Amino acid sequence: MATSPKSKPVDLGLVHRPRRLRGNAILRSMVEETRLSPKDFIYPMFLCEGRRVRQEIPSMPDIYRQSVDEALKEMEEVLALGVRSVILFGIPGHKDPLGSEAYSEEGIIQKGVRAAKKAFGADLLVVTDVCLCEYTDHGHCAPVKDGVVLNDEGVLIHCRTALSHARAGADVVAPSDMMDGRVGAIRATLDEEGFQSVPILAYSAKYASAYYGPFRDAADSAPQFGDRRSYQMDPPNAEEAIREVELDLEEGADIVMVKPALPYLDIIRRVREAFPVPLAAYNVSGEYSMVKAAARLGWIDNDRVVMETLTSIRRAGASIILTYHAKEAARLLAKG
Ligand code: PBG
Ligand code: ZN
Repeated sequence: MATSPKSKPVDLGLVHRPRRLRGNAILRSMVEETRLSPKDFIYPMFLCEGRRVRQEIPSMPDIYRQSVDEALKEMEEVLALGVRSVILFGIPGHKDPLGSEAYSEEGIIQKGVRAAKKAFGADLLVVTDVCLCEYTDHGHCAPVKDGVVLNDEGVLIHCRTALSHARAGADVVAPSDMMDGRVGAIRATLDEEGFQSVPILAYSAKYASAYYGPFRDAADSAPQFGDRRSYQMDPPNAEEAIREVELDLEEGADIVMVKPALPYLDIIRRVREAFPVPLAAYNVSGEYSMVKAAARLGWIDNDRVVMETLTSIRRAGASIILTYHAKEAARLLAKG
């Protein structure tokens, strides 16, 4: 419709104009419903044997497999950015059918935790991933017999592993294996040994996801036969996630987790609404790699996509986010 200078201004007679709160940047930030802080982040790190080893993971730019001495330097950097927690994954020097390096006193995680606690004490919250797939020669998260992944035998080893992490000084243990009953068994083991105060962050609703691909390259933990569908959750299921979380809480989980994050925002929201407990989400390796790949091609704006992604995970209801973006997001938040 053409308007001449004389014509009356268009007035729709609107009472409500949501745009009033969007015109001014200060006001816009005042009415923000979701805020991110570096305090929400847990930064995943991959530890390997040796000294002065720092090897970039090809599918995960800026993420390294590194020896403990190098990892300590990065932890310092992480702390300087205001991120106060890391979750440690181990790449052992040797793999065997039972994953014995996972629970060895001199295992890579045990050494890494001791070094981190010695260097940073209470300034850094050290979480350990409790699983066997990085340590077994077959790459499954529990022992295997005749092609079957054994639940109860697996749980016993996860208990030993969690205990050895607690003895090394881990602040939180995070079982990621998805065996039935592992949270209760780990809780009982830790309690018997005097670690009543060590919380369990349970990977409760962990899906059998293709988004773990880059992690498996990084940790050299791909299953050597079959897949993880007999223990990780089937992507179409949501009610089952509620059930898994409920069971973990009954068994004594202190924090529950949904993983991956972006393709499962609906699950994060449902868990948030169903249970009044701290909820974490894991923004996994494949989610990270996709952003990095598209950004490198110039197809998306890395910084804006990172912040939008992390905000969406918070908005869905996660209070804690495990993310490889932690350092860059902390830098972006500091810039404002
Ligand atoms: C070990 C474990 C995995 C991840 C975290 N712990 C891999 C898997 O289950 O195959 C994935 C993390 C990521 O992709 O960033 N069970
Ligand atoms: Zn595993």
